[in-house]
Amino acid sequence: STNEAIDTNSMTLTRFTLAEQKKIPHATGDLTQLLVSIQTAVKAISSAVRKAGIAKLYGMAGDVNIQGEEVKKLDVLANDLFINMLTSSYTTCLLVSEENKTVIEVEKDHQGKYVVCFDPLDGSSNIDCLVSIGSIFSIYRKSSDSVPSVSDALQPGNTLVAAGYALYGSATMMVISTGNGVNGFMLDPSIGEFVLTDPNMQVKEQGKIYSLNEGYANLWDPAVSEYVREKKAKKAGARYIGSMVADVHRTIKYGGIFMYPATTDSPKGKLRLLYECNPMAFLVEQAGGKATTGKMRVLDVVPTDIHQRIPIFLGSAGDVQEIIDLYKKHN
Ligand code: AHG
Ligand code: MN
Ligand code: MN
Ligand code: MN
Repeated sequence: STNEAIDTNSMTLTRFTLAEQKKIPHATGDLTQLLVSIQTAVKAISSAVRKAGIAKLYGMAGDVNIQGEEVKKLDVLANDLFINMLTSSYTTCLLVSEENKTVIEVEKDHQGKYVVCFDPLDGSSNIDCLVSIGSIFSIYRKSSDSVPSVSDALQPGNTLVAAGYALYGSATMMVISTGNGVNGFMLDPSIGEFVLTDPNMQVKEQGKIYSLNEGYANLWDPAVSEYVREKKAKKAGARYIGSMVADVHRTIKYGGIFMYPATTDSPKGKLRLLYECNPMAFLVEQAGGKATTGKMRVLDVVPTDIHQRIPIFLGSAGDVQEIIDLYKKHN
């Protein structure tokens, strides 16, 4: 667009997804419809995040979720939005949310062919101090042809149809892949649409930043301790936000590595496979990077429980290969 006040031809996320889907024979438009429903949830969360201080959304909602964490009001609001927008989109049959102990079955007359696993509000510990937070989602096609059941949600990440995240940062952005690369869309509040600003995002081969919570240094595997020692020797940059979405987005934009390793306290690490690790691993690989548990490719892990945790190292292929080699050396 030239110097128009309002772009009369903006490439919105919906238009972009429709064009992508039209390249696929027999595409029904269901995936586009599903992503439109997620956009609506994200826009509402974005609005709540930006008004939360005024709207008194802060503070503990009082109850504790199944993760044993104090649930804040924004967590509850985000979860309700994702569930309501997804179930009313007629494109989903089963949902998995971080905030729900068991799978959510969509009522029969609203069912569609997709299974969605999501983290409605990622980085909850950063809500009250106004540090960036996000939402994460991953989309599978229902695998079995029987009634939707938890087995439809326990597919490995290498069967993902699409995945994405929303980052509620200095601007609100959605980063999505439907399997043909990664594209970033910025929310334009003046038209309430996500507009393509970062086409074909690629992670550089090698970065200068490492990112993990060094508070747990005494609990790391030897491979992680050696890796971090090497990074410090090279005076690499250290950055850790504590919201996975923000740390991963920086890693895709600037390169480097994001790590949430196992510790002796949590031998499976902290991040959840279905709605944190798999979607982020899918996106990072689609952007030319790598994602590993240290011992295997994240997307090849076959889930056994909807809330299972795995250690994760993701980002620039060169940086991640170094930790893979160190795990081989130390095992
Ligand atoms: P959530 O708020 O959805 O529970 O996720 C929080 C996660 C993730 O966002 C972040 O990378 C990690 O917790 C930070 O954990 P530590 O505080 O242990 O570093
Ligand atoms: Mn999370
Ligand atoms: Mn969460
Ligand atoms: Mn949580």
